[in-house]
Amino acid sequence: MRRLDGKTALITGAARGIGRAFAERYVHEGARVAIADIDIVRARQTAADIGDAAIAVEMDVTDQASIDAGVAATVEQLGQIDILINNAAIFTAAPITEITRADFDRTFDINVAGTLFTLQAVAKHMIDAGIKGRIINMASQAGRRGEPLVAVYCATKAAIISLTQSAGLNLIEHGINVNAISPGVVDGEHWDGVDAFFAKYENKAPGQKKKEVGASVPYGRMGTADDLTGMAVFLASDDADYVVAQTYNVDGGQWMS
Ligand SMILES: NC(=O)c1ccc[n+]([C@@H]2O[C@H](COP(=O)([O-])OP(=O)(O)OC[C@H]3O[C@@H](n4cnc5c(N)ncnc54)[C@H](O)[C@@H]3O)[C@@H](O)[C@H]2O)c1
Repeated sequence: MRRLDGKTALITGAARGIGRAFAERYVHEGARVAIADIDIVRARQTAADIGDAAIAVEMDVTDQASIDAGVAATVEQLGQIDILINNAAIFTAAPITEITRADFDRTFDINVAGTLFTLQAVAKHMIDAGIKGRIINMASQAGRRGEPLVAVYCATKAAIISLTQSAGLNLIEHGINVNAISPGVVDGEHWDGVDAFFAKYENKAPGQKKKEVGASVPYGRMGTADDLTGMAVFLASDDADYVVAQTYNVDGGQWMS
């Protein structure tokens, strides 16, 4: 028996990167998944690549009507939502003196408000339908401590750890477990952008920052999206029934807490 047989999952930001890896692994474990993303073209391609157990759903997590429509479309096509992974987020970086209010607002809107109000919409569905569901938020080692050039993104991820605690404590009375995963440095398109940022601000050659962070990980390399999927399966499985409001580091030994 596969660990998620018969389950349904909505995964935001799943058109690419870590969210896509979660979707692929969940389907491998027997789930049907909704690939929810603002990039509907890529979400459709990802769903087609994964096969019949995946559907694409257009969702902008900054827009309440879009969240509600995406949740409704998922329930209509998959029957219900047993698992939500709040994975959609953007990275931003700038020295403190160059942070703009517009960038701050946009990053908090996607990373924090997007997570909270998607969680809220899916929690309401789970409570109404009597589903003892699972909600997994994506934090980051960036939420464990500040970084000199990454103030806003770090603050959004610290907020995710806090929201996971509050939502976890509030929703467990309905049998809904809320937990988070805190990755370290995960190679992929997201980190291509991070590398380009540091190339600009620290005068590094392209690829140099990736090499440096990879070498600094106790495990000895950057993570891959696949390194995270085991924890996402565990937190969605019956084995995690007594796990509430926690944030788990999956980062090759970067952070200890
Ligand atoms: N890559 C890393 O090193 C790393 C480290 C720690 C935490 N994380 C977290 O893991 C998660 C996934 O990261 P990733 O590397 O796969 O990122 P990514 O940038 O590759 O993918 C993010 C996805 O989110 C989608 N998205 C962006 N804005 C959206 C919106 N408003 N509504 C819906 N979808 C939207 C994008 O279209 C994209 O498909 C994020 O929460 C990220 O903060 C990543």
